[in-house]
Amino acid sequence: MKLTNKVIFITGASSGIGKSFAIKAAQDKCKLILTGRNIEKLQDVEKECVALGSEVLVVSMDVTSEDQIINAVNLAKDKFGNIDVLFNNAGLGFVDQLVNLKTLEIKTMIDTNITGMIMVAKYVLESMINTSNTKHIVFTSSIAGLTTLPQWSVYCATKWAITAFADSIRTELKKYNILITTVHPGPIKTDFFNRANINTNALGDYKNFTSPEDVANAVYNAIYKNNSKVIVPGYFKFLYLISKYLPFISKMTSNRFANQKYH
Ligand SMILES: NC(=O)c1ccc[n+]([C@@H]2O[C@H](COP(=O)([O-])OP(=O)(O)OC[C@H]3O[C@@H](n4cnc5c(N)ncnc54)[C@H](OP(=O)(O)O)[C@@H]3O)[C@@H](O)[C@H]2O)c1
Repeated sequence: MKLTNKVIFITGASSGIGKSFAIKAAQDKCKLILTGRNIEKLQDVEKECVALGSEVLVVSMDVTSEDQIINAVNLAKDKFGNIDVLFNNAGLGFVDQLVNLKTLEIKTMIDTNITGMIMVAKYVLESMINTSNTKHIVFTSSIAGLTTLPQWSVYCATKWAITAFADSIRTELKKYNILITTVHPGPIKTDFFNRANINTNALGDYKNFTSPEDVANAVYNAIYKNNSKVIVPGYFKFLYLISKYLPFISKMTSNRFANQKYH
């Protein structure tokens, strides 16, 4: 699908990958619904998008609140009519040995990365199934939604869950002409690591991590070509293939992360 002038609902639009995608879509004069919890940051993104010629609606929406999701979808429909694209992207991660992860951290990852994404998809769908034109839903999973890594256990579980969910609804939604993509970023230079209280010095090559703009470009391209799965950066496809077909090699390399100090 060509995205010019489309109505796009974005979660996690206040920073990182969601923000970069919003700015890219604004260059194509898309009508944007920017959602997140941090209104000031969303308004900064709004200013950038409006300056590029895009029409924007900013809505405060916590993906863990069903009421706030319903409210945001209703406001979006009132302003722009039906939604063409959902970039279901909001998420976070906490990393540690399972015994050290706090219950709140575990529940927040599950509520945000799984339940939140599913509920947003459910309510946005209602504004997609009544029209015959092509629509698209993109889920931000992770390379952690295709592989496993010690200390990232719960995060991996949430991202595998959303990969499976997206794969399941792909066939179910074909009859409504709704296409599904899962995006699987490797390490990306965003606030993700600060929010997770990860010391970025412990990540070694943080300076050279892939940019959120590269992910936004890859998502854009995937919607255009209707790719069902996109891995960014591209060379992470090899990691995925090794973990799938040569799991013993991938286990050997992942062993060194078992005692990695992240904090
Ligand atoms: N960075 C990476 O290395 C990496 C790798 C693979 C996958 N990912 C995934 O990419 C997605 C985007 O992350 P990012 O890297 O761009 O990190 P980021 O800069 O921290 O952005 C995360 C976004 O999610 C939003 N968010 C978090 N919890 C929310 C909630 N309860 N309700 C609504 N919005 C919420 C935040 O908005 P507010 O704070 O305004 O609510 C923010 O806009 C996430 O799903 C993440 O798991 C990231």
